[in-house]
Amino acid sequence: MITVNRVEDPRQLGLKKVFRDDFNIGVALNLNQISGNDPNAIAILKKHFNSISPENILKWEAVHPKLNKYDFEAADCYVALGEKYKMQIIGHTLVWFNQTPDWVFQDESGKSLDREALLERMKDHIFTVMGRYKGRIHGWDVVNEAIMADGSFRKCKWLEIIGEDYVQKAFEYAHEADPSAQLYYNEYDFEKKLKCEGVIRLICDLQSKGVCVDGVGIQGHWFLDYPRVNEIKEYVLALSKLGVKIMVTEMDIGVLPFYPVDSQAVDLSSFDPELQKKHNPYPNNLPDSVQKDLANRYAELFSFFHEHRDKFSRITFWAVHDGQSWRSYLPISGRTDYPMLFDRQYKAKPAFDAVVKIVQSKK
Ligand code: GLA
Repeated sequence: MITVNRVEDPRQLGLKKVFRDDFNIGVALNLNQISGNDPNAIAILKKHFNSISPENILKWEAVHPKLNKYDFEAADCYVALGEKYKMQIIGHTLVWFNQTPDWVFQDESGKSLDREALLERMKDHIFTVMGRYKGRIHGWDVVNEAIMADGSFRKCKWLEIIGEDYVQKAFEYAHEADPSAQLYYNEYDFEKKLKCEGVIRLICDLQSKGVCVDGVGIQGHWFLDYPRVNEIKEYVLALSKLGVKIMVTEMDIGVLPFYPVDSQAVDLSSFDPELQKKHNPYPNNLPDSVQKDLANRYAELFSFFHEHRDKFSRITFWAVHDGQSWRSYLPISGRTDYPMLFDRQYKAKPAFDAVVKIVQSKK
């Protein structure tokens, strides 16, 4: 009898199956998707992913918009959706300088809180939000982006009012609120050496104090040619020496010209026509050559992740498809970027095929 070895169609197989022996494959969902208004995205979710992150709905400003007002409507739907589809559910994020309302740092007359009052407020937030989903949200980005490019603590209200131990306190409260939850520190730009050293110093310091930190999240908002894989490798090896889980938590590959993410948000229309063209070169579609560059870039990165799969526990994409990605509206709004594996019509791109191929070729 002749047996035919069928090569399985990767698009039918799904990413989570391709990587089932390696790491979880996650994706960030937006409010529309969580509320059931984007069935095409949910179909992709079910087929390809086994972990979800909330793009915005668990940030402080969304879940705790006013002093005595928590709004859990979207977050409840998010967790229910994750349970329905048996996803690993991630929480993002408890303590951050951004998307946190000003009132958090002030008393009712608008005066700055003191250390004790702000710690109390932080604790209330962490206990209330984590407590509500105790045992249901698997892991939390407890603190996001606390270290600057020069390795020092980011100048922000948390630091100014509480002091450097605000990070420690956040992790301690989080551990108390749900001892079964995994607790992560999440950050970007690790290729900046002083910043990476600053994060390592911070985690070592927390570990030396017996504070529970289960993992470090590398956001992964990258470009076609930056950072180089060798740079990523260098910091992944350094971080892995901490003995914590390593995750890529917000992956996307921007194909548009670099514009510093820390700069003031601007609208594309504020530039003259020449500059608009420069900053937004592909307003209608992505040329084949760039599509190919994107596929090659994804392939080299996933080749690296796969090679170091003993270090990575999860790779999460920061949108289901191109049309959802923040990279078209920050730091310049009105651009058209193409950073994901699925296009605006929800179709898998050559980058998707390249990712699957690179891994299949290694098996
Ligand atoms: C950071 C945050 C994300 C998202 C992106 C883009 O990476 O962690 O939640 O807000 O910025 O804005």
